[in-house]
Amino acid sequence: MISLFLLLFQGCIAANNNITPSNPLSQEQVLTSSGQSFELGFFQPNNSVDKYVGIWYKDITPRRYVWVANRQKPVTDSLTSLTVGTDGNLQLLDGSNKVTLWSTNVSISSSNNTIAELLDNGNFALKDGLTGQNLWQSFDHPSDTLLPGGSFGVNSKTGERRVLTSWRSENDPSPGSFVLGLNPDQSPPQAYVWKGSVPYWRSGLWDKTTFIGIPDMDSSYSSVFEIKADKEQGTVYFYANPYNQSVFNVFLSSVGYLQTNVRGGGDSLTVNWEVPSNPCDIYGTCGPFGVCKASESPICSCLKGFEPYSDEEWSKGNWTRGCVRRNELLCEANPNSSATKNRGNVDDGFWKMDRMKVPDYSEIIDIDSSQCQQWCLNNCSCMAYAVVYGIGCLVWRGNLTDMQEFSFGGQEFFLRLTLCIISSNT
Ligand SMILES: *[C@@H]1O[C@H](CO)[C@@H](O)[C@H](O)[C@H]1NC(C)=O
Ligand SMILES: *[C@@H]1O[C@H](CO)[C@@H](O)[C@H](O)[C@H]1NC(C)=O
Ligand SMILES: *[C@@H]1O[C@H](CO)[C@@H](O)[C@H](O)[C@H]1NC(C)=O
Ligand SMILES: *[C@@H]1O[C@H](CO)[C@@H](O)[C@H](O)[C@H]1NC(C)=O
Ligand SMILES: *[C@@H]1O[C@H](CO)[C@@H](O)[C@H](O)[C@H]1NC(C)=O
Ligand SMILES: *[C@@H]1O[C@H](CO)[C@@H](O)[C@H](O)[C@H]1NC(C)=O
Ligand SMILES: *[C@@H]1O[C@H](CO)[C@@H](O)[C@H](O)[C@H]1NC(C)=O
Repeated sequence: MISLFLLLFQGCIAANNNITPSNPLSQEQVLTSSGQSFELGFFQPNNSVDKYVGIWYKDITPRRYVWVANRQKPVTDSLTSLTVGTDGNLQLLDGSNKVTLWSTNVSISSSNNTIAELLDNGNFALKDGLTGQNLWQSFDHPSDTLLPGGSFGVNSKTGERRVLTSWRSENDPSPGSFVLGLNPDQSPPQAYVWKGSVPYWRSGLWDKTTFIGIPDMDSSYSSVFEIKADKEQGTVYFYANPYNQSVFNVFLSSVGYLQTNVRGGGDSLTVNWEVPSNPCDIYGTCGPFGVCKASESPICSCLKGFEPYSDEEWSKGNWTRGCVRRNELLCEANPNSSATKNRGNVDDGFWKMDRMKVPDYSEIIDIDSSQCQQWCLNNCSCMAYAVVYGIGCLVWRGNLTDMQEFSFGGQEFFLRLTLCIISSNT
C-alpha cells in the first residue's frame, strides 16, 4: 500500500526539465521540455523487459522516439536511474551500481556541478552548472532521427563520423544495419544510406542548395537543409534547419526507408517524402552501364552502344552484372593513331540523355563548363560528362553505376560513343 502510494507520488512529481547531481531521473519520472514539445524518460518498446532512456514528442501518437541513450545495453532492473555521476557525466548504472550501461563520457575539468537539460527542440544537453557551457549534447550523437537543429556528417581531421543508425527492428533500438551519412572522401558531398558496408541509396552530389539525385528536392527545400563545410576544421555537416515550426524530422527506418515526416492531421506524423520509392532508387539496381527507369518494364536497359553482360541472366531479370560495350571506342582501338594523340578525336562523339540521375564516382574538373565536352573528348579514359549547375564540369571514367532516368528533373548526361553508333538506331 505504502509503496504503491510512493510510486504514484513519484509519478506526479515529473514536471521538470533537468537532471542534477542531487536530482536524478527515476524510471517513473519524465523530463518535459520547457515549451512542452518533448519528453525524456525510460521506455520499454512493445512492453519488452528491456528498458531504454529515450526522447519522444510529447503530443504525437503513436509515440515516436527521436533519440535513445543506451542503445547497446538496455536497463533490466527497476532500480537504475539516470544520474549525474561524481565526474559530472550523465550515466546509467545497472542495479549493482557497478556496470556502466551508458555514459556521456566526456572529460569535464570543472569541478562545478553539471546539469542536464531537455531543450524544447529535442536536444538533451549537459552543461556546466555555473558557466552554462555545453559539455555534451544528444544532437552530436543522433540515433535514427534528425531533428531541426541537428546534423550528420564527417570530421576528416578527427575521423569522427556523425551518422543516423537505424534500429535493429521496429521494437529493438539496438543499432541495426542501415546507416545514413555523408561520404567522407567526396567533394562536393553526397549522402548515402549504407546497408552494412554496401551502398543502398545515394542522394547525388550537393549542388549548394539541393542533392542532384533527388528530383523532389526542389529549391523550396533550400532553406530547410544546408551543408556547412569548414576546410580548416575539416568538417562537413548536413543540417536540418529549424525554419518551419510544424513538426518535421528525417528518419531512417529499420528496413532502410529514409523519410521526412511532417505533422499530419491532429497529433500524428505523416511521411511526406520517402526513398526507396521504387526499385530504381536502390543503389546499382541495373549494374554497371545499366539505366533504371521505374516506368518501364523491365525497369533496366543498357546504355546505347552497350549490351547485357549475360543475355541469359538479363532476360531473367538478374541485372547485377550489368552491360558491356558492344564495340570499343575508336580511341581505345587505335591508341597510337594521330587522331587519338592529337586534340580533336573526330571519330568519337556524345550521346545526350535527359532527366538523369548521373552515375556515381564522378570527378570534378576545374575548368570553364564550356570546355567540359572538349576536355572529355581529348581524354580517352573519359567515358561521359555532365555540366551541373552549381557544381560545374563532371567527368566519369571506369564503370558507370547507379544511373536512373527520372520522369522529371535530373541532369543532362553526355555519353561518349563512336559516331557510327550514335547515328545508328540500336
Ligand atoms: C508486440 O508484441 C506482441 C506480443 O509479444 C506481438 O504480438 C506484436 O507483434 C508486437 N508488435 C510489433 C509491432 O512487433
Ligand atoms: C569512455 O571513453 C573512453 C575513451 O574514449 C573509452 O575507452 C571508454 O570505454 C568509454 N566508456 C564508456 C562507458 O563508454
Ligand atoms: C567553478 O565555480 C567557481 C565559482 O563558484 C568559479 O570561480 C570557477 O571558475 C568554476 N570553475 C570552472 C572550472 O568553471
Ligand atoms: C511549413 O510546413 C507546413 C507543413 O509541411 C507547410 O504547409 C507550410 O507551408 C510550411 N511553411 C513554410 C513557410 O514553408
Ligand atoms: C545473379 O547473377 C549473379 C552473377 O552471375 C549471381 O551471383 C547471382 O546469384 C544471381 N542472382 C540470382 C537471384 O539469381
Ligand atoms: C602504341 O605505342 C606503344 C609505344 O610506342 C607501343 O608499345 C604499343 O604496342 C602501341 N600500341 C598499338 C596498339 O599499336
Ligand atoms: C585523362 O583523365 C584521367 C582521369 O580523369 C586523368 O588522370 C588524366 O590526367 C587525363 N589525361 C589528360 C591527358 O588530361
